[in-house]
Amino acid sequence: MSKKILVHASQLVTCSGFAPKRGKEMQELNVIEDGAVLMEDGIIAAVGTTEELLPHAAGAEVIDCSGKAVLPGFVDSHTHLIFTGYRAEEFSWRLSGISYMDIMRRGGGINATTISTREATLEELKREGRKRLSSMLAFGVTTVEGKSGYGLDRDTEIKQLEAMKALNEEQPVDIVNTFMGAHAVPEEFKGRTGDYVDFIIKEVLPEVANRGLAEFCDVFCEEGVFDIEQSRSLLLAAREYGMEIKLHADEIVPLGGAELAAELGAVSADHLLQASDEGISKLAERGVIATLLPATAFSLKEPYAKARKMIDSGCAVALATDFNPGSCFTNSIPLLFALATIYMGMTIEEAVTAMTINGAAALKREKQIGSIDVGKKADLVILEFPGYQFLHYHFGVNIVEKVIKNGELVFDKYRCLS
Ligand code: NIG
Ligand code: FE
Repeated sequence: MSKKILVHASQLVTCSGFAPKRGKEMQELNVIEDGAVLMEDGIIAAVGTTEELLPHAAGAEVIDCSGKAVLPGFVDSHTHLIFTGYRAEEFSWRLSGISYMDIMRRGGGINATTISTREATLEELKREGRKRLSSMLAFGVTTVEGKSGYGLDRDTEIKQLEAMKALNEEQPVDIVNTFMGAHAVPEEFKGRTGDYVDFIIKEVLPEVANRGLAEFCDVFCEEGVFDIEQSRSLLLAAREYGMEIKLHADEIVPLGGAELAAELGAVSADHLLQASDEGISKLAERGVIATLLPATAFSLKEPYAKARKMIDSGCAVALATDFNPGSCFTNSIPLLFALATIYMGMTIEEAVTAMTINGAAALKREKQIGSIDVGKKADLVILEFPGYQFLHYHFGVNIVEKVIKNGELVFDKYRCLS
């Protein structure tokens, strides 16, 4: 049996408690000073102070965390990590004043990435994905969600999902698959959005679901992309196949995506930059997680989602990167903490909750990960500073020193692990 004990954490930030945490509960991190965690075969076996746990740790490998804060592994619950081809020129075009949607209308955007992703082999997609996952791990991410949506045809959508399935088996970061065939309307269906939705429902969704290639289904519910009706019919079809639902909602215009997420009882509504007050109340009422992606707002120079209002209205908020080659080409967790607390009015405690237990709940994994509790996976982040507060105070800098995944050391900033 593999047995390890982590001791003398200046702060053991457990994030323990009922999940998801909503409203005021998001402030509660349940920190243990001079904390310890006993891990057996990759699972958390005991949590307490060093004094309480050390006598029960005979034979365990000891990891000394003096002067370091320890948190649950971060959960990046919204990314588009599998693609080939970059769109660096679009970034400059946007800064010169051309909007994201204009670039998309002119054939750039998601459709540009679709062309290169269709051409890529499965091996090429895996090779690119592998590099990105190792960068994520270095930021303390131990579970990530990844979406398809750069294929927009049956074979390429499936190839993206298969790439994530294969990568999930071969490296430490757990990957949760989301099918997002309704990410954009491909060239060959231009002007026939309804036909494309029918194609996805009839030709792609059944295969994805029957082969167990994705747990979630997502849609870009946006003016000029998929409207409320089209989004509703696709998501209801996905639900028929037993899939959970997510939406890209109210990112660019207030279309009513938050309201639709509440109506359908989606697990999460994501982006929400333009969500209406009514939509926010409905998310809170229905317990739909508001997944906020501040790095996208930053990159698009759009106003941030109203995180303060959402939390004060009783919503559960999660934070994620939205890593993708267009609207948000970053997987930086330090940037998220900085934007959330400096520009979105979240406290650092709320931001930590949003990156851990609420991120886990946005992936329906709150019973397995997201907090340091007995019985959960031993997925831990060790900071090189004594407090979680350094996550925003030392803004823009990666302060993750070590990452433990399933009880094993998988990243050490100061040591080369083979
Ligand atoms: O979440 N808005 C739609 N999808 C992504 C962007 C994808 C892309 O630009 O390639 C997003 O912002
Ligand atoms: Fe996205």
